[in-house]
Parts: sequence; C-alpha cells; structure tokens
Amino acid sequence: MHLGTFETALADTIAGPRAPTEIPAVSCDPAFRADVLTGLSQPRKTVPARWFYDLEGSRLFEEITHLPEYYPTRTETALLKTSAGQVATLLGTAPMIVEFGSGSSIKTRILLDAMPGATYVPVEICGEFLIEASQALAHDYPGIAIIPVEANFMNPIDLPDRRDPGPVLGFFPGSTIGNLVPSAAIDLLRTMRQSLGFGSLLLIGIDAVKPVDRLLAAYDDARGVTARFNLNLLHRINRELDGTIPVGAFRHRAHWNPASTRIEMHLEAMRDVAFDVAGERFRMAERETIHTENCHKYDPGQMRLLLQSAGWGELRHWTDDAGDFSLILAEATPDPFGP
Ligand code: AVI
Repeated sequence: MHLGTFETALADTIAGPRAPTEIPAVSCDPAFRADVLTGLSQPRKTVPARWFYDLEGSRLFEEITHLPEYYPTRTETALLKTSAGQVATLLGTAPMIVEFGSGSSIKTRILLDAMPGATYVPVEICGEFLIEASQALAHDYPGIAIIPVEANFMNPIDLPDRRDPGPVLGFFPGSTIGNLVPSAAIDLLRTMRQSLGFGSLLLIGIDAVKPVDRLLAAYDDARGVTARFNLNLLHRINRELDGTIPVGAFRHRAHWNPASTRIEMHLEAMRDVAFDVAGERFRMAERETIHTENCHKYDPGQMRLLLQSAGWGELRHWTDDAGDFSLILAEATPDPFGP
C-alpha cells in the first residue's frame, strides 16, 4: 500500500465515525473568505458551489446520492457496472486511475474491481474526507497503490511518478462537470487533458436534459436533505468566517432556467436581514437570494461538442434505457485546435 504524504495522518484516523456535533470551527482557506466576501458584495449575491463541501457538506451530499428522487447516482452506478470491463480491456494492464473530486470513492470500487493492478490517485479538496475514503479503500483493496492528492481539481495537477508508466484514465463521474457554466467546463476539461497527457482516456458522467418535474424533485427532495445541504453553506460561513447570518431566516430554492438548460439553487431570505461576515456588514431584502449552484443538463450532441471543444474525442457512450444519464469514454486527441 502506498499512501504518500497521508500515511501518518491515516494511521492517526482509525477511530470510528464522528458525531455531527464534532464539526471543527476551523478558520479555513483564505480563498473561502475572499469568495464569500466578493460574492456577497455583488448586486446578485452568489457563493461558488465548491464551498458546499466541508465535512458536513460532503456527508450531506453523500446522503443526497441515496435519495429516491436523486436518479444520477444509481443510474451512473448501473452504467459503470455495465462498462467497467470494457474500459479495462481498452486500457490494458496496470492503469493509473486519477479521480477528480473523489469524495467517498464509492463508484471507484466498480473500476478497481475490474482493474486489480491499478494505481489509484484520488484528488479531493476536503482533506479529512480524502483521508477517510483512502483509508477505507486501502483496507478493502490491499493490492492497489493509493496516492491521495489533496487539491482543487480545477487546477492542473502533477501525476505521481511510477516505475512502469502505463495507461492513464481520468475519472470524473457524477455530472460534476454540469456544475460549471459551459465555458468553465471546457476550461476544466482542457486542464484535465493537460494533467493527464496525450493518449490518456477520460471516463466522465454527464446528466441529460429531462422533464422539469423530475429535475426539480431531484434538487428539492421531500425529506429536505438538499435543503440542508444548501443551508449548510450558511452554517459554514458562520463557523469559519465569524458570521452572524440568521440561517433560520433563509430557505432553499431550486428552479429550472430554460435559457441555460440548468437547475439553479438559491438561498432565499424570508424577511429583510442584516448580518456580518468576517467583520463586514451585509443586508438582504425579503425574497432576495444568494445563488449557490448551477446544474447544467446536456443532450448527447452537446456532450460530444463540450468534450471536443477541450480536445477529447468520444470513444464510447453508454446511457440507460430512458436516456437519463450518460457515461462517456473519451480520448485525448492529438491537436485540439487543428483545422
Ligand atoms: C456534485 N453535483 C454533480 C451535484 C449535482 O447534481 O449537480 C450537486 C448537487 N446539488 C444538489 N444536489 C446535488
């Protein structure tokens, strides 16, 4: 087992699951402070969705993936089970699997079962979650080298050195690409191509356009888990940035934006409010919102075009019978900007 710089940290975290009350009030990444202060100062308030994922947010997202209304995870999991063997055959022996935003690495297990000689590189912004997931995987897959990388996958990453360079597979499941506006999605796909190198493959999950009632149910579930996930962002701001946001005065909102073919999530003030964050004063009128997330949906032609625009050529495309979700295997093509 190879756990890189996390070896000691992993050895220290063999305790059981933590109670939700143990969330540390750490003063965090200066980028969080900058993003929140800038976002709340805009005429249309916004906080980037990547800040959802502190330890509690990551756990709530995990809960979302098990909800009956949230079809993407189970649909993609079924597609992975169908396709993993074919991907393994195409790759050949001893691939390096680089997962961008690895979370709990649950879907990865399907790939690792089909590729027992793989090296696995989970890239995850939430260090604690990365450690927990790597520890669990290392226990269940003792023959697989695991090299965790705590990083923001929006930036280029250096692949770890290997004695025997083999094929490289990027793995970006869950339609996380849909959380970026198309121009940023293309930039990210280009960055991944640069990190993984020419000739590498990318296995990516992308959610499809479908009837609005199904989409709204998926992003505003009956049990209110998505609402808690969204509202946790305000708790996080209060915890980490000395915030005084009256969280009870806000509610979760999800709506379909047809012009941009996306679900938008917002936090709506239910009354006029004033609060402080990191020593700065903010005011919001009743019904004003903080825009927290975009979830773009694509049809199959648009998915191909998105990938092509960043130098990825589609090799295989798997979808379920209803066409709800797509799993695409793409190859880094030689020249993305040729005639
Ligand atoms: C992580 N991402 C792909 C999820 C999505 O469906 O866009 C995030 C999410 N937001 C609310 N529910 C799930």
